[in-house]
Amino acid sequence: TPDITSICKDAGAGVNDKENAVRTLKCCPPSVGKTIKDFVFPTDNKVRMRWPAHTGTKEQVDKYRAAIQAMRDLPDDHPHSFVSQAKIHCAYCNGGYTQVDSGFPDIDIQIHNSWLFFPFHRWYLYFYERILGKLIKDPDFALPFWKWDEPAGMPIPEMFVPEKIDGKPNSLYDVYRDANHIKARIVDLDYDGKDKDIPDKQQVLCNLSTVYRDLVRNGGDTLSFFGGVYVAGDDPVANGAQSVGSVEAGSHTAVHRWVGDPNQPNNEDMGNFYSAGYDPAFYIHHSNVDRMWKLWKELSLPGHVDPTETDWLNASYVFYDENEDLVRVYNKDSVSLDKLKYNYIENSKEVFPWRNSRP
Ligand code: C2O
Repeated sequence: TPDITSICKDAGAGVNDKENAVRTLKCCPPSVGKTIKDFVFPTDNKVRMRWPAHTGTKEQVDKYRAAIQAMRDLPDDHPHSFVSQAKIHCAYCNGGYTQVDSGFPDIDIQIHNSWLFFPFHRWYLYFYERILGKLIKDPDFALPFWKWDEPAGMPIPEMFVPEKIDGKPNSLYDVYRDANHIKARIVDLDYDGKDKDIPDKQQVLCNLSTVYRDLVRNGGDTLSFFGGVYVAGDDPVANGAQSVGSVEAGSHTAVHRWVGDPNQPNNEDMGNFYSAGYDPAFYIHHSNVDRMWKLWKELSLPGHVDPTETDWLNASYVFYDENEDLVRVYNKDSVSLDKLKYNYIENSKEVFPWRNSRP
């Protein structure tokens, strides 16, 4: 656990051009003097069903827009504000915290490029979703997900595109995106900084192969899929190191780079950890990344099992919950969607459209 109530420093790791950074590097949460509670599983009556963003009804989209707007309307120093939520990612990913609780005060915590990637982001979205629901007083509120593993879901969802809706700012819009990509719409799940300039049809097939690559070919066992072992005392694992999990290194990072603006000093927003949380698209991208964990297990192939090492099970993070309490959560409590009371709406006819897309 990071010691988020007393020790947090300015972020900066991984931000090349700090001077011209378009977002702040002061990412510490408003937490001084708070006590940390233990997490308890939700007792909601209903399961929150996350919905494919491209299939959203007007009612779903309006609600989601209103929730994000309510978040944006909070003062920045409120733990539920849009900015505070974005800073969570920055603090955990760009050197805000050290491993002081484990006796390594000089080593930063980094939740990317290792087996902490899936559980950390699952918890991050879990609280984010509940906070949004609370803001609009909807106990069943569920996030959309950017279903880039199905052809119809590959374009960046329409609701994110317009700058204004009925003359008012669109809460899902973000100015720091690659305008050409947003116009072209279909994401490239294998984007490496260069446009492929291939017809849409071909891009779709290419994307399906990429999903197959990340979930099957490159993700055949626990650590290939989750990422390598990373425990107290280890230095943050460098980006691109071999131990990065298959989805994280593959489609996950490609989408970040594809959405981020190459004309900004640090590819803000989506192209850098420190700023990614400022783009609402981050959270719908990550809900699909989280869904990949679920689908990977549902493939039921040999080797597709969650880590069982104590070091993984007992790794923990601290978040503000929907009641503004600070809670400590563990990897071991992140593995069951049933217990967390959310799930993903699947298209029963075509669960794995990429199943036969062996590259
Ligand atoms: Cu924490 Cu998609 O990165």
